Amino acid sequence: MSHPRRALLFMPGDDSRKIAKGAALGVDSIIMDLEDGVAASRKEAARATVVAALASVDFGTSERLVRLNSVSSGLMEADVAATVHARPDGYVLPKVESGDNVRWVCDLLSQAEADHGWPTRSLRLIAIVETARGILRLEDIAQADLRLDALAFGAEDLAGDIGATRSRDGWEVFHARSAVVIAAAAYGLQALDTPWTDLGDLAGLDADARRAADMGYSGKLAIHPRHVPVIVAAFTPSPEAVAAAQRLLAAYHTHQALGAGVFAFDGRMVDAPMLRAAQRLLAQAGIAQP
Ligand code: COA
Ligand code: MG
Repeated sequence: MSHPRRALLFMPGDDSRKIAKGAALGVDSIIMDLEDGVAASRKEAARATVVAALASVDFGTSERLVRLNSVSSGLMEADVAATVHARPDGYVLPKVESGDNVRWVCDLLSQAEADHGWPTRSLRLIAIVETARGILRLEDIAQADLRLDALAFGAEDLAGDIGATRSRDGWEVFHARSAVVIAAAAYGLQALDTPWTDLGDLAGLDADARRAADMGYSGKLAIHPRHVPVIVAAFTPSPEAVAAAQRLLAAYHTHQALGAGVFAFDGRMVDAPMLRAAQRLLAQAGIAQP
């Protein structure tokens, strides 16, 4: 089972103050960025700051991830070479456009694991799909390598790539947002939703994160500490929802034992698909099932 990732907080890799702040929040995952959150002139400084943080900052139970520059940037190999010895828990690869992109990074990580005597595939990988070509090749990407834990969706880059204008409800990226979650489900990966970029509109974030959870996403990228609790709440099933799922499961098993595949429950028809939905909800809540 992959590390549970409800909120994943980004910060620029060259900003040690934000790394230290983020590390103290108890967030599921910290993503120290080497890509677009870092100015072109600061790439080397960011690599050094990330290595120093991995060596000296107490991240508690937070997963420690590093976002690389894209395969096509010409910077990715040097990002890995400069940081892997500090042994982050994994990497985030942006602008993934093919299974070959994933395998290229995975080969570098396999080599590093062999060189250091670390377990095979112990360095995990998350792929951000955020270009038109990436969306068209989701199936190839999703099955590229067993190191891959999750597909993340990036709406801002996608909008730039296809010429869309972002709106509050995100209808312009709906097809891509849905395609990512379907590809992830098809290949047993986590689906992580795009960040909410409005720093102050927490009601908008709440609605957006709950929409993503309803679509099947299991977590969401975050860009500000104040977004983290809103996201965690949206991806944590409520006690009422957990209790309802447990009652449904019990009723299902009772009816199966009596030879009934379908039955009425709280005024609604229940059969196998609702059972699977209830099981998924309990898994998302981290509750073991009978
Ligand atoms: N991680 C950790 N700490 C953060 C943070 C983050 N993503 N964003 C803000 N903070 C800290 C600030 O350092 C500040 O702490 P301080 O008062 O002790 O210095 C506090 O939270 C309040 O920050 P605020 O003034 O509201 O924000 P800002 O104007 O300093 O920064 C951004 C705004 C957008 C630049 C900042 O939130 C950020 O860097 N976000 C991540 C950007 C990123 O990584 N993008 C790439 C992926 S999309
Ligand atoms: Mg981006």
